[in-house]
Formats: sequence, C-alpha cells, structure tokens
Amino acid sequence: MAYKVTLIPGDGIGPEVAEATVEVLSALKVPIEWDRQELTATIIEQMGSSLPEYVIKSMERTGVGLKGPVTTPIGGGFKSVNVSLRKQLDLFANVRPVFTLPGLKTRFEDVNIDMVIFRENTEDLYSGLEHEVVKDVVESLKIITRYASIRIARYAFEYSRANHRKKVTAVHKANIMKLSDGLFIRCCREIAAEYPEIAYNELIVDNASMQLVMRPETFDVLLLPNLYGDIVSDLAAGLVGGLGVVPGANMGEKCAVFEAVHGSAPDIAGGGLANPTALMSSAILMLRHLGETEAANRFQRALSETFRQAKYLTRDVGGTAHTAEFTQAVIGNL
Ligand code: NAI
Repeated sequence: MAYKVTLIPGDGIGPEVAEATVEVLSALKVPIEWDRQELTATIIEQMGSSLPEYVIKSMERTGVGLKGPVTTPIGGGFKSVNVSLRKQLDLFANVRPVFTLPGLKTRFEDVNIDMVIFRENTEDLYSGLEHEVVKDVVESLKIITRYASIRIARYAFEYSRANHRKKVTAVHKANIMKLSDGLFIRCCREIAAEYPEIAYNELIVDNASMQLVMRPETFDVLLLPNLYGDIVSDLAAGLVGGLGVVPGANMGEKCAVFEAVHGSAPDIAGGGLANPTALMSSAILMLRHLGETEAANRFQRALSETFRQAKYLTRDVGGTAHTAEFTQAVIGNL
C-alpha cells in the first residue's frame, strides 16, 4: 500500500526543490501517492485566504505533508501560510535537526555539530494579536500558556529519551519577562524532573546565542518558545551551511508537515540554481516519521556522500552545479 502524502511545492524555488526531492524519493522506490496541492502567493491573493480549504482538506486526508516555501508579503498583505498552517492543524512542535555535513565548507567545518532544536509553534508573539493603542503606538501580545509549554517540553524530552540524547537546554528571557518566560521555564523544569537520565540546564537567550557561536559542539537538544526558537534555529542553521541545507518538521498530534526552512528565494527562482538539500533532508525526516528507516538511512548516506565528494554542489554552498546535476549525483549515490 502506498503512503498518501500531500505535496505543496509552493512558489519561487519551491517547485524546483520539490521536483528534485520527489525524483530521489521515486528512485528510492518508496511507495508514495502524492496529493499535489498548488499554493502560491498569486493563488492566495486571488482567493483572499492564506490557507485555502483544499490544502487543509488534503492534509486531513493524508496526515503527512511535504512543503516547499510560499512567498509572504512583508509589512502588510496576507498572513504567513506557515503560521496559518501551524495554527489550523495544531502543529505545535517545530523540530529542526542541525548537524555538520561532511565536506561542506563552513566556518565551523572542523567542529562536529549535532543538535536538535524544539520550538513551540503556536503561541508567544506569533499569536497575531496586535493593535494600535493610539496613533503611532502599537501593542503586540506575547501569549504563553502552561498547556502549550508543557506540551512542547514533553515532546522534546520524549524525543530525547527515544533518541538517546543526553542534555536538554531550555532557552528563555525570564530575567526580564518574569511572568511569561517564567511560566515557560517552570513548565520545562517540571517535565525535566520526570526524565532524570537526561541532563537539563537553562540559558538566557542572548547568552545562548553567544554560546552557540563559540561552542556549538556542546549543545544537544534545545527547547525554546516560539520567537527565540525562530531566531536561534536560523542562527544554528548558519553554523552548518545555512538555510539551504537544514531540514524542518512541524509536528502535531494528527498531522505532520515537513518543510524546507528557507524562503522562496525570488532572487534565484527559475534559474536551476536552488539547492534542494533542505527539502531533501526534510523528506528524510518524513521517511523516518513514516517508519521507512532503511530508505531514510540510504537517502541520508547518499546526500552526505554527495557533499563529501563536493563535485556537484550548488552555488550557495560554493559549487557550480545546477539543481538537476546535484539531484542526479544524489541518485547516483543511493
Ligand atoms: P529566502 O530564504 O528566500 O532567501 C534568503 C537568501 O538565501 C537568498 O539569497 C536566497 O537566494 C538564498 N536561498 C534560500 N534558499 C536557498 C536554496 N534552497 N538554495 C540556494 N539559495 C537559497 O529568504 P527571504 O529572501 O527573506 O524570503 C523570500 C520570501 O520567502 C519572502 O516572501 C518570505 O516571506 C518567504 N519565506 C517563506 C518561508 C516558507 O514558506 N517556509 C520561510 C521563509 C521565508
């Protein structure tokens, strides 16, 4: 029986990286029946909804999605598709493994980085509760609940236990936001106490950012509220080669969406220059979620080997190859 998976290629470089990823999955012969759903900035503008009903319906049918980026207007226009998707499908955990790819030239290439970042995905300053109090004074509400904090903390600790991770670091700013981040950190401590085999520590977000740059190899699992998680996970991506190479997963109780964390890269869209590694790595996470461990391992080995050979890398990571050449190299290494 084939797995049913919703494919949202997105726009900009989305369709290029989606096509490349689907090609490798098909070479792997994992039986997947794609439920392809078009979602682009133009469609969203025409329909007047950042998350049309057909996308939600498809996700409810399949429970699993593979998603490319969708352009979001900045400082106005429609709401981010990703934020809407996470809210509507209650994808409460954003999971980002960040690890060194052998052969990839980065500022930290001599350091073995291997961390997993867990970001609460549904509240905090992303609640969308903003209003103008009086002219030229705007208020944005930061919402932190015990329910969401406990849920993400438990998810991170359960993952750590299942994957033999040794340390969870909770990141906060409770010295300033004593009530909101204070609640988050109390929930983390409460859950940490249930997992005595896993070490637990806390870092204030500014210090955590510095430590990540100075000693990235000392981090194992990070646990953060939404906004810090958003910023720190991109910082961590920068340690291992940037947004073009790191995967992401948005996990809920009923649905999971695997997506490249980079945007639609309008500056290079349509030129065959996109690096599909991030979406390919997200597809590897998807295979693990589906229980296709052997296929996931093969895909990961082929991807790592392609980087180690460094013959067909794309421009963003110092190579000259086009998306299609990189993809063929990965398939050749399967
Ligand atoms: P971006 O990630 O699209 O691009 C930043 C830089 O990285 C650009 O120079 C781009 O060429 C490069 N880049 C990104 N991904 C790459 C890849 N796979 N291969 C090679 N180079 C790559 O970020 P930007 O420019 O801030 O956003 C562009 C649009 O994407 C915006 O409308 C933004 O809202 C949207 N966006 C969508 C996301 C999503 O749907 N998941 C996530 C982030 C941004």
